Amino acid sequence: MANAKRVTATQVVKKKQKAEKIVMITAYDYPTACLVDEAGVDMVLVGDSLGMVVLGYETTLPVTLEEMIHHTKAVVRGVKRALVAVDLPFLTYQTGPADALRSAGRLMKEAGATAVKLEGGANVCPQVRALVGAGIPVIGHLGLTPQSIHVFGGYKLQGRGEEAAQKLLADARALEEAGAFCLVLECIPEELAARVTGSISIPTIGIGAGARCDGQVLVLHDMLGITGKVRPRFVKQYARLEETIRDAVGQYAQEVRQGKFPAPEHSYASEESASSPIPFLKKR
Ligand code: KIV
Repeated sequence: MANAKRVTATQVVKKKQKAEKIVMITAYDYPTACLVDEAGVDMVLVGDSLGMVVLGYETTLPVTLEEMIHHTKAVVRGVKRALVAVDLPFLTYQTGPADALRSAGRLMKEAGATAVKLEGGANVCPQVRALVGAGIPVIGHLGLTPQSIHVFGGYKLQGRGEEAAQKLLADARALEEAGAFCLVLECIPEELAARVTGSISIPTIGIGAGARCDGQVLVLHDMLGITGKVRPRFVKQYARLEETIRDAVGQYAQEVRQGKFPAPEHSYASEESASSPIPFLKKR
């Protein structure tokens, strides 16, 4: 059977039961999808953060379904083991269950997604029910939901105060009841994330929600240090690729200008046979 070793939604839920932490990370293209999968993450999210970290939009709002399909296809080609979840972009599902089904259906049929993620609580439960009813695994997303950035008035901590906490807890229970298999909690106090995690049976995946969630997700470009100057406090940079890339390209430019690149080992001799394959250098 194809994909027999792929991580499934059921396995993700079981990880919570076994108290095993769940690891999710974003990817938006083939090479990084291959790398994060080889590194052994459980879930790869083609997030609509795509719009901000790859396409250069100011918010996630302009991201289209076509863009998500395009990038998801590349990610799916690179991932052999992890579950590939994909964000439903702004206004491709808020308009009702039929639109949600059409949009998620395209992500599954055309792009090869295994699950979809949508933002919102009780307000999107009819959509969640329709998707799950059609056999589409759904991840919920509560707290700082970037598609509502203009309602929040900026990227601010959510769920502060008991009233907001109660609303978020009720939304989490509603999403579980509607059939979501997993829940992203973004930018909420650690204590509230712990309360949500303890009050539902589906796993919570935190981002800026402290250590007491069932798993964690980070935006790949944030943790690799390639997202520009601003870095939210909850992001740990595991690498500083911005510097590495700038230095490497600067060195290349310098060597070309100085006539140092290409060197003899990067050039072909005229006696090399035209019919044989192009010789490659050995992998380092
Ligand atoms: O779009 C995204 O990358 C996300 C994660 C931050 C959870 O929704």
